[in-house]
Amino acid sequence: MRRKLVAGNWKMQGRHAANAALVQGIRAREAEYLGVDLWIAPPALYIDQLAGLVVGSSICLMAQNVAREDDGACTGEISAGMLRDAACVAVIVGHSERRSRYGDDDAVVAEKFGRAQAAGLIPVLCVGETLAEREAGQTEAVVLRQLQVAIDAHGVSALASAVLAYEPVWAIGTGRTATSEQVQQVHRVLRAEVEKNDADVSAGLRILYGGSVRAANAGALFAMPDIDGALVGGASLDADEFVAIARAARVAH
Ligand code: PGA
Repeated sequence: MRRKLVAGNWKMQGRHAANAALVQGIRAREAEYLGVDLWIAPPALYIDQLAGLVVGSSICLMAQNVAREDDGACTGEISAGMLRDAACVAVIVGHSERRSRYGDDDAVVAEKFGRAQAAGLIPVLCVGETLAEREAGQTEAVVLRQLQVAIDAHGVSALASAVLAYEPVWAIGTGRTATSEQVQQVHRVLRAEVEKNDADVSAGLRILYGGSVRAANAGALFAMPDIDGALVGGASLDADEFVAIARAARVAH
């Protein structure tokens, strides 16, 4: 049985006071998401602050990005080792905002994936098609290519300590959610691809869905056999909404 995982990606949002209030609000309702893994990815600047705020709770910290290089002369970058040192357990790699705006192509994503694992972080590898690709019938080809890049670079066994996130670009921040059937179909294809290489890794691999997840649609998504949780953007900035999503994951157990 794969444990459900609900991960919040704050993106470039937050301030010290607002962060404290948000984490406090989430912690106050911890009883509602017992048994569900809850991860939060604040902007890197606030990771240390959150490390203090989550002490004594089950919440784990995730980073939104990582350098492709190891420690050294890389102005402005943050290494995987630093994130680990700052108590992160995981890092998002290949988010579509980074792929489309910051030059994170497949090769860069593969490098970041490797750096993360080498430092003991769990990479949360995002894959997903654009609207044009979906309309052209290329959804499966696109997500399989993005998955294959990591497998080619690091081997299928690397997925044993990774998380996959299917995030159709057209559903991110748009209020437009893929239907649970559409998501299940893509998750099934991704899991089947891993299964071809390693049945055990496939059976244990958590595949999250991301793209306008809200409390209102989370239950239907989590009821699907291959949807193991969610990567939540906008709704993770609201304690009640985020906890309600996590509660839906608990109920779906
Ligand atoms: P959203 O973002 O929930 O605001 O659509 C999801 C994501 O980018 O991970």
